[in-house]
Amino acid sequence: MTDIDIDLGSDADREWSAKLMASSEPWLTLGRDSATCLAYCRDPQFVVLMARRVGARCGFLLLHPTGVAGSPYIASIAVIAAVRGQGVGSELLDAAERWFPKARHMFLCVSSFNTRARKLYKRRGYTRVGEFPDYVIADASEILMHKRLVQP
Ligand SMILES: CC(C)(COP(=O)(O)OP(=O)(O)OC[C@H]1O[C@@H](n2cnc3c(N)ncnc32)[C@H](O)[C@@H]1OP(=O)(O)O)[C@@H](O)C(=O)NCCC(=O)NCCS
Repeated sequence: MTDIDIDLGSDADREWSAKLMASSEPWLTLGRDSATCLAYCRDPQFVVLMARRVGARCGFLLLHPTGVAGSPYIASIAVIAAVRGQGVGSELLDAAERWFPKARHMFLCVSSFNTRARKLYKRRGYTRVGEFPDYVIADASEILMHKRLVQP
């Protein structure tokens, strides 16, 4: 998809992102309710990147500048169901990986049951570096993944 613009989200974009998060997997299974999603998306520690297609919001990514070992951490990413599988998520990941030009590493977490997202991250060069069993809910892990943005 080529008609996607990604820019820094506003307060209204954060509210929209919270609604998408609260109504989507994996957060439904993880039991993250609307109020928690709103508090999370409003947290000023996170940069919110907003994807728009012909001006209409279609996805977001929350990025913590120094979330893991001083490197940026992708805290959440979601695309509206109607346009999934058309490259918006990949464009958001590209934008996050470019957002801090001096960053050498990027981290993210993915739920063990989110097999499609895990496949996407693996394809994009993320590798598993750790696993936290029963971290949010019983019988599911959060898997910490890492990508080297700059070769040593
Ligand atoms: C994961 C997600 C952000 C990817 O965005 P996208 O625009 O669909 O991604 P792209 O089009 O760039 O890449 C497609 C790949 O995304 C993954 N994907 C597609 N639909 C997905 C879904 N419903 N859930 C999880 N991953 C999905 C697949 O790996 C897919 O590749 P495939 O078609 O070969 O299976 C998006 O699908 C989504 O919002 N999913 C629900 C929320 C989620 O799982 N967020 C990740 C939390 S760690």
